[in-house]
Amino acid sequence: MSIADILSKSPVIPVLVVDDVNSAVPLGRALVAGGLTVLEVTLRTPAAMDCIAAMSEIEGAIVGAGTVLNRDMRRAAADAGAKFVVSPGLIEGEGPEGPAPLLPGIATATELIAGLAAGFTHFKLFPANIVGGVDALKAFQSPFQQATFCPTGGVSAKNAAEYLALPNVICVGGSWVAPAEAVRAGDWDRITTLAREAAALAPKAPAAVEG
Ligand code: 3PG
Repeated sequence: MSIADILSKSPVIPVLVVDDVNSAVPLGRALVAGGLTVLEVTLRTPAAMDCIAAMSEIEGAIVGAGTVLNRDMRRAAADAGAKFVVSPGLIEGEGPEGPAPLLPGIATATELIAGLAAGFTHFKLFPANIVGGVDALKAFQSPFQQATFCPTGGVSAKNAAEYLALPNVICVGGSWVAPAEAVRAGDWDRITTLAREAAALAPKAPAAVEG
């Protein structure tokens, strides 16, 4: 599956920080039950790779790795089962195709030009709210008609719909659907409720779980 295919499957990609591998499967199941099937597990905890491997077994889930900073992390994430990888920025020498398709972050027009030259068409705007948010994406629309975005960083239930209404936004990413305290408490029902609300945000992508 290409990054375009993956990003088109869900209006919201949960950005997950998972400390305990035992939480990984119930967390993933709770999100998929709410209709969010594309899951980004950030490589910020020692458990992250094991979590990716465990969550990849969940029916209907498409599990990727986030916070990928270099080629070795991309390879290791793919080996753990990641179907895609996300980076906060451009990684020198790394293109769209590879062990797992890459969604790179950009924050400026110059980075966008570099990313397009490297063959990318889809970008994470990061940190979206800090680098201009909805207004920046509106400004990028005309000069960069070939670029499509997944804004992430400061996106929440309050502003996600505004991002999703933009023609150059395919989906958004955010941690709000899996609050750290809910994960720690094992409050999976709350996470399913948050996921259901997020999945209903935009008609752009099917909310239903695909087998
Ligand atoms: C991140 O890298 O942590 C993501 O951008 C998520 O940001 P958020 O916590 O503001 O949703």
